[in-house]
Amino acid sequence: MSKYNVSNKTRREFLRDVAVLGGAAATGMMLPSLSRAQTDRIRLGLMLPYTGTYAQLGVAIENGLRLALEQAGGKFGGREVEFYKVDDESEPSKATDNANRLITRDKVDVLVGSVHSGVAMGMLKVAKESGTLMLIPNAGADAATGALCTPNVFRTSFSNWQPVHPLGKVMADRGHKKAVFITWKYAAGEESLASFKEGFLAAGGSVEKELFVPFPNVEFQALLTEIAAIKPDAVACFFAGGGAVKFVKDYAAAGLKDKIPLYGSGFLTEGVLTAQGEAADGLLTTLHYADSLDNPRNKVFRPAYAKAYKTEPDVYAVQGYDTGLLLAQALDRVKGDIGNQKAVIAAMEGAVIDSPRGQWKMSKAHNPIQDIYLRRVEKGDNKVIGVAWKALEDPARGCKLV
Ligand code: BEZ
Repeated sequence: MSKYNVSNKTRREFLRDVAVLGGAAATGMMLPSLSRAQTDRIRLGLMLPYTGTYAQLGVAIENGLRLALEQAGGKFGGREVEFYKVDDESEPSKATDNANRLITRDKVDVLVGSVHSGVAMGMLKVAKESGTLMLIPNAGADAATGALCTPNVFRTSFSNWQPVHPLGKVMADRGHKKAVFITWKYAAGEESLASFKEGFLAAGGSVEKELFVPFPNVEFQALLTEIAAIKPDAVACFFAGGGAVKFVKDYAAAGLKDKIPLYGSGFLTEGVLTAQGEAADGLLTTLHYADSLDNPRNKVFRPAYAKAYKTEPDVYAVQGYDTGLLLAQALDRVKGDIGNQKAVIAAMEGAVIDSPRGQWKMSKAHNPIQDIYLRRVEKGDNKVIGVAWKALEDPARGCKLV
């Protein structure tokens, strides 16, 4: 079986099966996208959270993607673009139905999503079965570009392993040897913890306690009391969106900020600094983006985004933007022929993205190879204070494309 066995035949079979199941075949419903002319608009199916703790992240991703499209003259590969949107509510149990609907009802050419790792895994299943091209603009689920990697799925963001892997060494170098890790109990939190541990243990540290709250709960008080009792050298964490605002404020309000240094994967302070206020000042995090990055693309991107959306961009906006840059680059290369999936995949595999985060390219497993920065919150900005790891590539454990 060839590496590119995601042919129209497979996609056609999938769509036929779905149509039959839904009774559509009996009514003569046309199979999605296969019969559409190459001059038609490209249909992008956005499955993102527009409600709940990750709502702001979904909006930033869409904004970034739309900005890239606008800067490409409103077309990818010479073709106009139509958006089909679903609020996935960061709810994994609805993910396969939502993705199937985008493919069969809206006939999308590309699935774009999501933020939440569990939702992305549901989408991945549908993308794999249907052969639909899928771009992941945030969700870090390691398996998506690891054990379950597949030719028609690309990620433009990070694996959960990546941003937090350098954090252990950063903390150990600062003299912290005993840490507590606190996070939400779902894939992103658990995989961040596993990666942090790997790096921290290798640097001579030990994780004294692993603390979890169910996603998306924000009742941290009991666990903060436990941290105070344990008295570790430092605390590391994964939280994002609305939950990150509450956690950082609660940590400071509990009187822990000046006693036990708090570190995190950089999502902790992305897009939420205004809401966190002084509680976030001085926090050190690691991530593949920082507001103050000194590269030409970031210097142009930030004011353009701020002008278009009346708000400052964050890492989620950058990931949405890069999703647009990837589509623009690949579809230009194939002259808009999105039906030629083999050529689109080859173009995406060869893409080099000149991103606000710095230049990055795709790994063989379809995940960015990128620099991870050490950042400090200063005057409401995530300021870069160093490169924590140059050109970090996810190990892609179990991926057969590698
Ligand atoms: C995730 O679920 O993979 C995720 C969500 C928000 C920020 C980073 C990762």
